[in-house]
Amino acid sequence: MKAKKIGVLTGGGDCPGLNPTLRAVVRKALYENISVVGIKNGWKGLITKNTVNMDRNSVSGILPRGGTILGTSRTNPYKKEGDLEKTKNNIKALKLDALIVIGGDDTLGAASKLHKEGIKVVGVPKTIDNDLSCTDFTFGFDTAVNIATEAIDRLHTTAESHHRIMVVEIMGRHAGWIATYAGIAGGADIILIPEVPVDVNEVCKIIKKRHGGGKDFSIVVVAEGAQLKDHTLVLQTKKKDAFGNVLLGGIGHVLGKQIEERTGYETRVTVLGHIQRGGSPTAFDRVLGTRFGVKAVELVMKREFGKMVALKGNKIVGVPIADAVGTLKTVDMGLYDIAKIFFG
Ligand code: F6P
Repeated sequence: MKAKKIGVLTGGGDCPGLNPTLRAVVRKALYENISVVGIKNGWKGLITKNTVNMDRNSVSGILPRGGTILGTSRTNPYKKEGDLEKTKNNIKALKLDALIVIGGDDTLGAASKLHKEGIKVVGVPKTIDNDLSCTDFTFGFDTAVNIATEAIDRLHTTAESHHRIMVVEIMGRHAGWIATYAGIAGGADIILIPEVPVDVNEVCKIIKKRHGGGKDFSIVVVAEGAQLKDHTLVLQTKKKDAFGNVLLGGIGHVLGKQIEERTGYETRVTVLGHIQRGGSPTAFDRVLGTRFGVKAVELVMKREFGKMVALKGNKIVGVPIADAVGTLKTVDMGLYDIAKIFFG
Protein backbone atom coordinates (compact mmCIF):
# COMPACT_ATOMS: atom_id res chain seq x y z
CA MET A 1 0.00 0.00 0.00
CA LYS A 2 1.41 3.37 -1.03
CA ALA A 3 1.75 6.00 1.71
CA LYS A 4 -0.65 8.91 1.13
CA LYS A 5 -0.11 10.91 4.27
CA ILE A 6 2.91 11.13 6.56
CA GLY A 7 3.67 12.96 9.76
CA VAL A 8 6.98 14.62 10.63
CA LEU A 9 8.32 15.85 13.96
CA THR A 10 11.52 17.31 15.41
CA GLY A 11 12.39 16.36 19.00
CA GLY A 12 15.15 17.01 21.54
CA GLY A 13 17.62 19.91 21.44
CA ASP A 14 17.32 21.94 18.26
CA CYS A 15 20.24 22.25 15.87
CA PRO A 16 21.12 24.00 12.63
CA GLY A 17 19.96 21.86 9.70
CA LEU A 18 16.51 20.91 10.99
CA ASN A 19 14.72 23.35 8.69
CA PRO A 20 16.57 22.23 5.52
CA THR A 21 15.61 18.66 6.50
CA LEU A 22 11.93 19.57 6.99
CA ARG A 23 11.96 21.39 3.66
CA ALA A 24 13.40 18.30 1.96
CA VAL A 25 10.86 15.96 3.56
CA VAL A 26 7.95 18.17 2.46
CA ARG A 27 9.26 18.88 -1.06
CA LYS A 28 10.11 15.24 -1.77
CA ALA A 29 6.79 14.02 -0.33
CA LEU A 30 4.74 16.51 -2.37
CA TYR A 31 6.76 15.52 -5.46
CA GLU A 32 5.61 11.93 -4.82
CA ASN A 33 1.98 13.01 -4.16
CA ILE A 34 2.19 12.33 -0.43
CA SER A 35 0.71 14.92 1.93
CA VAL A 36 2.57 15.97 5.07
CA VAL A 37 1.35 16.82 8.56
CA GLY A 38 3.81 18.70 10.74
CA ILE A 39 3.67 17.72 14.42
CA LYS A 40 4.50 20.61 16.71
CA ASN A 41 7.07 20.40 19.51
CA GLY A 42 8.27 16.82 19.15
CA TRP A 43 6.39 13.97 20.85
CA LYS A 44 4.41 16.55 22.82
CA GLY A 45 2.50 17.48 19.65
CA LEU A 46 1.44 13.88 19.12
CA ILE A 47 0.24 13.56 22.70
CA THR A 48 -1.79 16.79 22.46
CA LYS A 49 -2.61 16.50 18.71
CA ASN A 50 -1.02 19.82 17.93
CA THR A 51 -0.38 19.73 14.19
CA VAL A 52 -0.09 21.85 11.08
CA ASN A 53 -0.57 20.88 7.44
CA MET A 54 2.61 21.44 5.49
CA ASP A 55 2.58 22.60 1.91
CA ARG A 56 5.21 24.07 -0.37
CA ASN A 57 4.57 27.52 1.07
CA SER A 58 5.12 26.43 4.65
CA VAL A 59 8.72 25.43 3.90
CA SER A 60 9.53 28.30 1.59
CA GLY A 61 12.53 30.40 2.66
CA ILE A 62 13.54 28.16 5.58
CA LEU A 63 16.73 26.65 4.11
CA PRO A 64 19.09 29.16 5.78
CA ARG A 65 17.14 29.39 9.03
CA GLY A 66 18.41 27.87 12.28
CA GLY A 67 16.12 26.13 14.78
CA THR A 68 13.01 24.27 13.70
CA ILE A 69 9.80 25.79 12.35
CA LEU A 70 7.89 22.94 14.04
CA GLY A 71 9.27 23.68 17.49
CA THR A 72 10.72 20.99 19.73
CA SER A 73 10.56 19.58 23.25
CA ARG A 74 12.24 16.95 25.35
CA THR A 75 8.89 15.22 26.00
CA ASN A 76 9.18 11.46 26.39
CA PRO A 77 5.97 9.62 25.37
CA TYR A 78 7.01 6.70 27.58
CA LYS A 79 7.40 8.77 30.73
CA LYS A 80 3.89 9.71 31.88
CA GLU A 81 1.06 7.25 32.19
CA GLY A 82 -1.46 7.64 29.38
CA ASP A 83 0.83 9.55 27.00
CA LEU A 84 1.75 6.48 24.97
CA GLU A 85 -1.92 5.63 24.45
CA LYS A 86 -2.62 9.21 23.36
CA THR A 87 0.35 9.13 20.97
CA LYS A 88 -0.84 5.94 19.31
CA ASN A 89 -4.48 7.09 19.16
CA ASN A 90 -3.53 10.39 17.57
CA ILE A 91 -1.37 8.69 14.93
CA LYS A 92 -4.54 6.74 14.04
CA ALA A 93 -6.85 9.76 14.27
CA LEU A 94 -4.56 11.77 11.97
CA LYS A 95 -4.60 8.82 9.52
CA LEU A 96 -0.81 8.87 9.22
CA ASP A 97 0.57 6.08 7.04
CA ALA A 98 4.04 6.70 8.47
CA LEU A 99 5.93 9.00 10.80
CA ILE A 100 9.29 10.61 10.08
CA VAL A 101 11.02 11.30 13.39
CA ILE A 102 13.93 13.73 13.37
CA GLY A 103 15.90 13.54 16.60
CA GLY A 104 18.88 12.45 18.62
CA ASP A 105 19.39 9.43 20.82
CA ASP A 106 16.35 10.08 23.07
CA THR A 107 13.78 10.99 20.40
CA LEU A 108 14.92 8.15 18.16
CA GLY A 109 15.00 5.78 21.15
CA ALA A 110 11.26 6.43 21.60
CA ALA A 111 10.78 6.00 17.82
CA SER A 112 12.50 2.64 17.98
CA LYS A 113 10.23 1.47 20.81
CA LEU A 114 7.14 2.66 18.90
CA HIS A 115 8.30 0.77 15.83
CA LYS A 116 8.51 -2.41 17.91
CA GLU A 117 4.87 -1.77 18.85
CA GLY A 118 3.85 -1.66 15.19
CA ILE A 119 4.02 2.08 14.40
CA LYS A 120 5.53 2.78 10.97
CA VAL A 121 8.48 5.08 11.66
CA VAL A 122 11.56 6.24 9.81
CA GLY A 123 14.28 8.10 11.75
CA VAL A 124 16.53 11.02 10.83
CA PRO A 125 19.56 11.68 13.08
CA LYS A 126 20.31 15.21 14.26
CA THR A 127 22.50 16.68 16.98
CA ILE A 128 25.35 19.14 17.28
CA ASP A 129 27.04 16.55 19.53
CA ASN A 130 27.64 14.05 16.66
CA ASP A 131 27.32 11.26 19.23
CA LEU A 132 24.84 9.01 17.42
CA SER A 133 26.09 5.60 16.34
CA CYS A 134 25.78 4.20 12.80
CA THR A 135 26.20 7.54 11.02
CA ASP A 136 29.52 9.25 10.25
CA PHE A 137 28.03 12.69 10.91
CA THR A 138 24.81 14.29 12.06
CA PHE A 139 23.77 17.69 10.74
CA GLY A 140 24.23 20.51 13.22
CA PHE A 141 27.70 19.30 14.10
CA ASP A 142 29.52 21.10 11.30
CA THR A 143 27.81 24.40 12.14
CA ALA A 144 28.64 24.04 15.85
CA VAL A 145 32.27 23.24 15.00
CA ASN A 146 32.51 26.34 12.79
CA ILE A 147 31.04 28.58 15.49
CA ALA A 148 33.40 27.17 18.13
CA THR A 149 36.37 27.49 15.76
CA GLU A 150 35.58 31.14 15.12
CA ALA A 151 35.34 31.70 18.88
CA ILE A 152 38.77 30.11 19.40
CA ASP A 153 40.23 32.32 16.65
CA ARG A 154 38.83 35.38 18.40
CA LEU A 155 40.08 34.25 21.81
CA HIS A 156 43.58 33.85 20.35
CA THR A 157 44.00 37.56 19.62
CA THR A 158 42.87 38.72 23.06
CA ALA A 159 44.83 35.94 24.81
CA GLU A 160 47.98 36.97 22.98
CA SER A 161 47.53 40.69 23.73
CA HIS A 162 47.00 40.11 27.46
CA HIS A 163 49.38 37.14 27.85
CA ARG A 164 46.58 35.07 29.37
CA ILE A 165 45.30 31.54 29.49
CA MET A 166 41.89 31.32 27.84
CA VAL A 167 39.77 28.34 28.82
CA VAL A 168 36.86 27.76 26.43
CA GLU A 169 34.07 25.37 27.40
CA ILE A 170 32.36 23.64 24.53
CA MET A 171 29.12 21.61 24.34
CA GLY A 172 28.86 17.99 23.25
CA ARG A 173 27.40 16.21 26.25
CA HIS A 174 29.33 12.99 27.04
CA ALA A 175 31.33 13.01 23.79
CA GLY A 176 34.15 15.35 22.84
CA TRP A 177 33.50 15.64 19.11
CA ILE A 178 32.88 19.39 18.89
CA ALA A 179 35.81 20.11 21.21
CA THR A 180 38.19 17.88 19.23
CA TYR A 181 37.23 19.22 15.80
CA ALA A 182 37.08 22.88 16.84
CA GLY A 183 40.23 22.48 18.91
CA ILE A 184 42.17 21.09 15.95
CA ALA A 185 40.71 23.66 13.54
CA GLY A 186 41.35 26.55 15.93
CA GLY A 187 44.85 25.44 16.93
CA ALA A 188 44.05 24.95 20.63
CA ASP A 189 47.07 24.28 22.84
CA ILE A 190 45.23 21.62 24.86
CA ILE A 191 41.94 19.82 24.18
CA LEU A 192 40.20 18.06 27.06
CA ILE A 193 37.38 15.63 26.33
CA PRO A 194 35.10 13.26 28.28
CA GLU A 195 36.76 10.23 26.72
CA VAL A 196 40.06 10.96 28.55
CA PRO A 197 40.11 11.82 32.32
CA VAL A 198 41.66 15.25 32.88
CA ASP A 199 44.89 15.43 34.86
CA VAL A 200 45.21 19.11 35.89
CA ASN A 201 48.88 18.63 36.78
CA GLU A 202 49.58 17.44 33.27
CA VAL A 203 47.58 20.38 31.81
CA CYS A 204 49.62 22.86 33.88
CA LYS A 205 52.87 21.15 32.91
CA ILE A 206 52.03 21.56 29.21
CA ILE A 207 51.12 25.23 29.70
CA LYS A 208 54.27 25.98 31.70
CA LYS A 209 56.47 24.25 29.13
CA ARG A 210 54.82 26.26 26.35
CA HIS A 211 55.32 29.52 28.25
CA GLY A 212 58.89 28.50 29.04
CA GLY A 213 59.42 28.14 25.30
CA GLY A 214 58.47 31.77 24.74
CA LYS A 215 54.70 31.60 24.16
CA ASP A 216 53.07 33.61 26.93
CA PHE A 217 49.45 32.77 26.14
CA SER A 218 47.51 29.52 25.77
CA ILE A 219 44.11 28.33 24.61
CA VAL A 220 42.62 25.43 26.56
CA VAL A 221 39.54 23.81 25.02
CA VAL A 222 37.44 21.78 27.43
CA ALA A 223 34.33 19.78 26.54
CA GLU A 224 31.46 20.27 28.99
CA GLY A 225 31.43 16.53 29.77
CA ALA A 226 35.16 16.29 30.54
CA GLN A 227 35.94 15.02 34.04
CA LEU A 228 38.83 15.86 36.30
CA LYS A 229 40.50 12.72 37.67
CA ASP A 230 38.81 11.70 40.95
CA HIS A 231 35.95 14.17 40.41
CA THR A 232 32.36 13.74 39.26
CA LEU A 233 30.78 15.51 36.29
CA VAL A 234 30.26 19.25 36.74
CA LEU A 235 26.52 19.94 36.46
CA GLN A 236 24.43 23.12 36.19
CA THR A 237 21.60 21.64 38.22
CA LYS A 238 20.71 18.37 39.92
CA LYS A 239 17.51 18.09 37.85
CA LYS A 240 17.25 15.55 35.04
CA ASP A 241 15.11 15.81 31.88
CA ALA A 242 12.33 13.37 30.90
CA PHE A 243 14.91 11.02 29.40
CA GLY A 244 17.12 11.07 32.51
CA ASN A 245 19.79 13.39 31.06
CA VAL A 246 21.78 15.64 33.36
CA LEU A 247 22.46 19.27 32.39
CA LEU A 248 26.22 19.64 32.03
CA GLY A 249 28.18 22.87 32.33
CA GLY A 250 30.69 24.56 34.62
CA ILE A 251 33.85 22.50 34.13
CA GLY A 252 35.47 25.51 32.39
CA HIS A 253 35.33 27.62 35.56
CA VAL A 254 36.48 24.76 37.81
CA LEU A 255 39.43 24.12 35.51
CA GLY A 256 40.26 27.81 34.94
CA LYS A 257 40.51 28.41 38.69
CA GLN A 258 42.83 25.44 39.18
CA ILE A 259 45.05 26.45 36.24
CA GLU A 260 45.40 30.01 37.54
CA GLU A 261 46.17 28.81 41.08
CA ARG A 262 48.75 26.26 39.99
CA THR A 263 50.51 28.17 37.19
CA GLY A 264 50.16 31.73 38.45
CA TYR A 265 49.16 32.83 34.91
CA GLU A 266 46.13 35.07 34.60
CA THR A 267 43.24 32.97 33.30
CA ARG A 268 39.83 33.78 31.81
CA VAL A 269 36.96 31.43 31.01
CA THR A 270 34.47 31.55 28.12
CA VAL A 271 31.44 29.25 28.06
CA LEU A 272 30.10 29.11 24.51
CA GLY A 273 26.79 27.48 25.42
CA HIS A 274 23.78 27.67 23.13
CA ILE A 275 25.51 30.02 20.68
CA GLN A 276 26.78 26.73 19.21
CA ARG A 277 23.23 25.58 18.51
CA GLY A 278 21.70 28.76 17.16
CA GLY A 279 21.78 30.50 13.81
CA SER A 280 22.13 29.58 10.20
CA PRO A 281 23.38 26.11 9.19
CA THR A 282 26.60 25.76 7.17
CA ALA A 283 26.37 24.62 3.54
CA PHE A 284 27.51 21.14 4.67
CA ASP A 285 24.65 20.86 7.16
CA ARG A 286 22.11 22.17 4.63
CA VAL A 287 23.20 19.58 2.07
CA LEU A 288 23.30 16.74 4.64
CA GLY A 289 19.84 17.67 5.96
CA THR A 290 18.49 17.84 2.41
CA ARG A 291 19.91 14.41 1.53
CA PHE A 292 18.61 12.91 4.81
CA GLY A 293 15.12 14.36 4.28
CA VAL A 294 14.82 13.04 0.72
CA LYS A 295 16.12 9.60 1.74
CA ALA A 296 13.68 9.42 4.67
CA VAL A 297 10.73 9.81 2.29
CA GLU A 298 12.27 7.19 0.00
CA LEU A 299 12.49 4.75 2.93
CA VAL A 300 8.80 5.38 3.67
CA MET A 301 7.95 4.70 0.02
CA LYS A 302 9.96 1.46 0.09
CA ARG A 303 8.24 0.60 3.39
CA GLU A 304 11.61 0.21 5.11
CA PHE A 305 10.20 1.11 8.52
CA GLY A 306 12.26 0.99 11.70
CA LYS A 307 15.20 2.37 9.73
CA MET A 308 17.19 5.57 10.21
CA VAL A 309 18.89 7.46 7.40
CA ALA A 310 22.65 7.64 7.89
CA LEU A 311 25.79 8.98 6.26
CA LYS A 312 28.36 6.28 5.53
CA GLY A 313 31.33 7.63 3.64
CA ASN A 314 29.61 9.76 1.02
CA LYS A 315 26.49 7.61 0.72
CA ILE A 316 23.16 8.03 2.46
CA VAL A 317 21.90 4.63 3.59
CA GLY A 318 19.22 3.14 5.84
CA VAL A 319 20.28 1.45 9.10
CA PRO A 320 18.10 -0.07 11.87
CA ILE A 321 17.16 2.69 14.35
CA ALA A 322 17.66 0.14 17.14
CA ASP A 323 21.36 -0.18 16.20
CA ALA A 324 21.90 3.59 16.25
CA VAL A 325 20.41 4.38 19.65
CA GLY A 326 21.64 3.43 23.10
CA THR A 327 25.36 3.28 22.28
CA LEU A 328 27.16 6.60 22.40
CA LYS A 329 29.53 7.28 19.52
CA THR A 330 32.62 8.65 21.26
CA VAL A 331 35.63 10.41 19.77
CA ASP A 332 37.87 8.37 17.53
CA MET A 333 41.12 8.07 19.50
CA GLY A 334 43.13 8.12 16.28
CA LEU A 335 41.82 11.64 15.70
CA TYR A 336 42.56 12.64 19.30
CA ASP A 337 46.13 11.35 18.89
CA ILE A 338 46.51 13.73 15.94
CA ALA A 339 45.21 16.59 18.10
CA LYS A 340 47.75 15.71 20.82
CA ILE A 341 50.68 16.27 18.45
CA PHE A 342 49.83 19.98 18.58
CA PHE A 343 49.45 20.29 22.36
CA GLY A 344 51.71 22.80 24.07
O1 F6P B 1 22.46 17.72 22.81
C1 F6P B 1 22.72 19.03 22.43
C2 F6P B 1 23.10 19.86 23.61
O2 F6P B 1 23.31 21.18 23.17
C3 F6P B 1 24.30 19.36 24.41
O3 F6P B 1 25.53 19.64 23.80
C4 F6P B 1 24.07 20.06 25.73
O4 F6P B 1 24.67 19.37 26.79
C5 F6P B 1 22.57 20.05 25.86
O5 F6P B 1 22.04 19.90 24.56
C6 F6P B 1 21.98 21.29 26.48
O6 F6P B 1 20.64 21.06 26.70
P1 F6P B 1 19.52 22.18 26.91
O7 F6P B 1 19.03 22.56 25.55
O8 F6P B 1 18.48 21.49 27.71
O9 F6P B 1 20.17 23.34 27.59
